[in-house]
Amino acid sequence: MQIGTMTIDPPVLLAPMAGVSNRAYRAIARKQGATLCITEMVNANALLHKSAKSFWLMEMDPGESPVGIQIAGSDPELMAEAARQAEQQGCDLIDINMGCPAPKVVKNGDGSALLNDAATAVAVVREVVSAVHIPVTVKMRAGWDHNTITAPSLAEEFERVGAKAIAIHARTRDDLYVRPANWDFIRQVKERVSIPVIGNGDIRTPEDAVRMMELTGADGVMIGRASFGDPWIFKRITEFVRSGHHLEPPSAIERAEMALYHVRRMVEIKGESVGIREMRKQLTWYLHGTPGSSAYRNRCYALNTLEDAENLINEWLDHARNEDLSWI
Ligand SMILES: Cc1cc2nc3c(=O)[nH]c(=O)nc-3n(C[C@H](O)[C@H](O)[C@H](O)COP(=O)(O)O)c2cc1C
Repeated sequence: MQIGTMTIDPPVLLAPMAGVSNRAYRAIARKQGATLCITEMVNANALLHKSAKSFWLMEMDPGESPVGIQIAGSDPELMAEAARQAEQQGCDLIDINMGCPAPKVVKNGDGSALLNDAATAVAVVREVVSAVHIPVTVKMRAGWDHNTITAPSLAEEFERVGAKAIAIHARTRDDLYVRPANWDFIRQVKERVSIPVIGNGDIRTPEDAVRMMELTGADGVMIGRASFGDPWIFKRITEFVRSGHHLEPPSAIERAEMALYHVRRMVEIKGESVGIREMRKQLTWYLHGTPGSSAYRNRCYALNTLEDAENLINEWLDHARNEDLSWI
């Protein structure tokens, strides 16, 4: 898959996820086969007000590439300025958020509210494209609700004003996460544009990824929640697409090692207090579905120190070993 002059091969992407796809998470995903990663959403207004948080959200590991910074907002000029500042951080592309359903975002006309305002949405993309030298992509939902599926016509306009790829989350704003993704929305977008279309929504297995591409013609896939506690999903998809074979799922030892690496890296990046707080939920994801994991869940939520997190992971590993040797 080609985005501007960048080749993304194989086209298996990590989705932007607020509170999740920080640089530690992206490094892990990349090592496990994600070929393009997108940051957490950065609010354009906050960025232009120099909020420290916006700059943390844009932080990248030295040499991290390819990576896209996602910006959110609906004022074309402010978005253009935010895109310039994001470009200065050294990212490879700017992604524009037109999917966020959160009430506090849509009440300002940002995120998925733009799906209902074609003139503004197109102006945002046009201004951002002309503000930066790197490719601009748009990630959007299919429309506001099932009566207003605007993504196909908007995608056509976005291509016309210079967007280099469209990622489509196959739900409407109204669906939130309650209804299942309808991949036909991806097909409808793909029919209307010649730039790459990246399909997103409810890919849980390598078979899902193949089926989505076959059903929709999507040029690539973007994975969000299926990577929670399972960054190996990227390699499993890549291998299955390439050879039709399944890689073995990770062993308990591999899971424990990854969880330890992840929590230590988060503490390095964010300090112990914030790093551990942000890792609590993620640790439950690494342990999820493994023998004895339910006993550890509540303890994950009570963690405060790196030492406690390391002890918990090692204890869980011993438990898993004793419970079922086939896990090791
Ligand atoms: C915790 C979380 C945070 C998210 N944050 C963002 C975000 O910042 N920007 C965005 O475009 N989408 C965001 N999304 C949506 C995902 O990128 C993706 O479109 C959605 O989860 C569907 O894909 P999946 O079924 O593979 O998870 C978020 C999703 C989750 C679960």
